Amino acid sequence: MDPRDTAVLLPPPPATDPEHGFFDCAEESAHYAFSVQLLLTQYASLVPWQAEGVAELGSGDARAIAHVVRAVPGLRVHGTDISPTSVEKARQTIGGLGVSDRYGVKLGDFFTWADSPAGRDVSTVIANPPYIPAPDGDIRMPELWGGWYGNDLVLRLLKAGFDHLLVALPSYSDPAATLATAADLGYQVANFLAMGLEFGAYSREPKVARHIAEITADGHGWSGGDSYVVAVALLTRSPELPRDRATELLRALQLSV
Ligand SMILES: C[S@@+](CC[C@H](N)C(=O)[O-])C[C@H]1O[C@@H](n2cnc3c(N)ncnc32)[C@H](O)[C@@H]1O
Repeated sequence: MDPRDTAVLLPPPPATDPEHGFFDCAEESAHYAFSVQLLLTQYASLVPWQAEGVAELGSGDARAIAHVVRAVPGLRVHGTDISPTSVEKARQTIGGLGVSDRYGVKLGDFFTWADSPAGRDVSTVIANPPYIPAPDGDIRMPELWGGWYGNDLVLRLLKAGFDHLLVALPSYSDPAATLATAADLGYQVANFLAMGLEFGAYSREPKVARHIAEITADGHGWSGGDSYVVAVALLTRSPELPRDRATELLRALQLSV
């Protein structure tokens, strides 16, 4: 494949009021998809996705990664999602794009699968994980709750034993703490793509927006009122990585270093 072939088809525009039961944010999903495609292809010599495939935490309706699978020959993805509506929609998307031989989505908790023998055979995880910070999970879509600071799921992923993580890190979900934990666990930042986004339906919810204002004022991340930055980063424990870009990543997320 020509590494310049990074086109990702945009999902349709978001509904003004996203349907209940599955994640719907076209800009964020497109950024995740584009970044996964670019980072996997650019770092193919470091990340063994061609030999092993990759696992995905939280496939949602699969519009993001189904397009990537279609564009990248040889990419195989084992997806999971905890939401039955998402899994049903994901299977429709995947079938419609004709990639069901290389992309499957199972209903269930990613971490249960990760602990299984099949999970231990894969060393790369991709995820736009649940990252909404809130005092509790009683929010618009409870499956998107990421704990008090929003980074509970990515911290669990870091501790799950995978060598390579391609994850979305939002500026308002305490990314400095996440990256400090990553460094303690031996991960370096290979590279990342960062994009500014407006608060969407999930972060605009008054309870969530208030909480984001409080935690960022306390130094646990950054938001610009009703905007934030999301970086999709490749974190790796490969000893072959020539350069750690953790400082550049923190700066891109508007955090002082
Ligand atoms: C932010 S959405 C991302 C969806 C999709 N990857 C995208 O970017 O369009 C996060 C997804 O993770 C799912 N999820 C939450 N906790 C999970 C878990 N423990 N295991 C698997 N999926 C989970 C949610 O249901 C949701 O669909």
